[in-house]
Amino acid sequence: MRITGRFVRAALAAITVLPTLISALSDVDKNTLSRQYASTVTKKNIIRFFGGSSTHLEVLFLDATDGLNANNLTWQWPDKSPGSDFQAFTRGVAFAGNNDDILLQGGEGSTTIMENLVVFNNNNWRQAPAIDKPAAAAFMTANLNPLDNSAYYFGGRLLNNHQLNVTATSLNTFRKFDIIKGRWLIIEPATNGIERPGRTAHTSNLINNQVFIMGGVSGFKNASRAGPSADFASVLVYDISTNTAVSVTTLGDIPPARNSYSTALGLDGHSIVIYGGILVGGKDEDKAAPSDVYVLDTCSLTWSKQSTKGSAPGSLNSHNAININNYMVLALGKTNDKDYNFNIAILDMAQWKWVSTFTETEDTIQSGSCKFELPSINATTFSPMNYDDGVMINPLTPVKKKVDSKGFGIGFGILAVVLIAVGAYFYVKRVRNKKSRTLNPRWMRSAPAHTNSGYSNDRDYPLFVYNKELDADNINNPNVPRTQTAFATNDVRTYTASDHEQWEQELNSDAANSNGVASSRNSDIWNRMRGLNDASVISDEEVQRNRTNNGRLVDL
Ligand SMILES: *[C@@H]1O[C@H](CO)[C@@H](O)[C@H](O)[C@H]1NC(C)=O
Ligand SMILES: *[C@@H]1O[C@H](CO)[C@@H](O)[C@H](O)[C@H]1NC(C)=O
Ligand SMILES: *[C@@H]1O[C@H](CO)[C@@H](O)[C@H](O)[C@H]1NC(C)=O
Ligand SMILES: *[C@@H]1O[C@H](CO)[C@@H](O)[C@H](O)[C@H]1NC(C)=O
Repeated sequence: MRITGRFVRAALAAITVLPTLISALSDVDKNTLSRQYASTVTKKNIIRFFGGSSTHLEVLFLDATDGLNANNLTWQWPDKSPGSDFQAFTRGVAFAGNNDDILLQGGEGSTTIMENLVVFNNNNWRQAPAIDKPAAAAFMTANLNPLDNSAYYFGGRLLNNHQLNVTATSLNTFRKFDIIKGRWLIIEPATNGIERPGRTAHTSNLINNQVFIMGGVSGFKNASRAGPSADFASVLVYDISTNTAVSVTTLGDIPPARNSYSTALGLDGHSIVIYGGILVGGKDEDKAAPSDVYVLDTCSLTWSKQSTKGSAPGSLNSHNAININNYMVLALGKTNDKDYNFNIAILDMAQWKWVSTFTETEDTIQSGSCKFELPSINATTFSPMNYDDGVMINPLTPVKKKVDSKGFGIGFGILAVVLIAVGAYFYVKRVRNKKSRTLNPRWMRSAPAHTNSGYSNDRDYPLFVYNKELDADNINNPNVPRTQTAFATNDVRTYTASDHEQWEQELNSDAANSNGVASSRNSDIWNRMRGLNDASVISDEEVQRNRTNNGRLVDL
């Protein structure tokens, strides 16, 4: 920490730095701070932001040596032009290099030198030695793997004269850059043989020698198919140790599809935390994502919605998420489609609470203790998505339980989900209308079941308890046997706990509406009910079909 302090003072002495109090931002400051899709690197508690503006190259930084205070924020940047070889850019990448070097690649709008690779060190810029450099691109992702000192790249779009080549499709290539040797390599991972779509504006996180790529817009070589946004029902996993890359379906409480969200790492060393973005592909297309936090456990590719305390920052998109100590810090980006964000938000991930300040900066992310086992590339269990034909079924997917047939078995799962969802809708509506807090949506009778069905004997089970990891019939499930702890509070998450807590909090804030349009709370239930089972069980189209013109669910 001392060293960091000296480092900053040295930097301050070397060049002019403009300290800026958030409350007193001039228009010039605001122009400099207006960034979206910037890249960030944290070294020695200095958080730096690169790119994200087509007019300002200044490398913004926040000094978190003594923590950060959202109410007394000092944005700083060196007031020194590095010369015409270096130009403002957007949608590039940046990652930590050797020693105090930070390596970065300009995306759109930069220069040929920056498109290759440049070093930023102590506020000086220089060209990086880079052997076998690939064609210039933007929108790609890069993650440094400390285990082999290489940055792993995926996807992006080719550039032509520093702008996007609009006729080229998204790249589907994996590459790596060895930061010690300064050499590029194209990686050709083993795959299941189905064309891997390219991706643009996706996210990637490297955990325990595996890269998890999700979201973004996919692109097939077949140009007539380019374009669909990828949702969170699958993740492309590249396993570095086995050099294998396959897309796999996710389980659990899958977040609504979105773009321009940001990711940080969870404290357990094996999860990815997402926040913000703009919804895509549903009836809420183009609306800001709600202030929800979702967590992906990368060991099983299972999503859960994390309830949080404190006051969430509201809508944010194209922002950055930074890990420091127990905290996820959100900065820059936009608060809606036109206003830039000059504040920071801080989520304490140990307590899952939004806070305004912290002082501790030691790194607390545990080293990962588990790892996702990819399905065999020879397996034939596919679950194609419109954005990726090669998605394979997650080996941890529960085996469907057999239900007594008598013409009732197969349809029961779907029917139950529909009936429970409809029941939940009217139930919550009734609770809302009565303004009553005595009823508990956690516990309710299920749909009337056939007397011979496997579900008929005990219908008072919790509505949303559904834990795919606990499926004891699945021979691939590493967690079996664990029936004893099936409903223990420790370690096991059910829909009930977090959702109920959130409903409680939101019960009075979400006013009843008279026009028959589902409230955001009810839409949320719908969205998550759809996530309960395979994403395909109730498609968006099916939901739309079940709505009347004014958006109300039809009375079944
Ligand atoms: C705000 O931070 C500065 C240092 O960055 C400090 O000198 C000042 O006292 C702080 N103000 C408040 C109100 O905490
Ligand atoms: C743009 O990309 C297409 C497809 O890859 C390629 O054929 C074309 O030459 C590129 N245009 C330029 C000007 O680089
Ligand atoms: C391209 O995609 C379209 C739509 O899926 C399909 O009909 C067509 O056969 C594909 N063309 C090739 C060359 O694969
Ligand atoms: C997949 O099949 C090929 C040939 O059938 C075989 O050589 C390879 O070992 C198999 N790979 C796995 C991971 O089972």
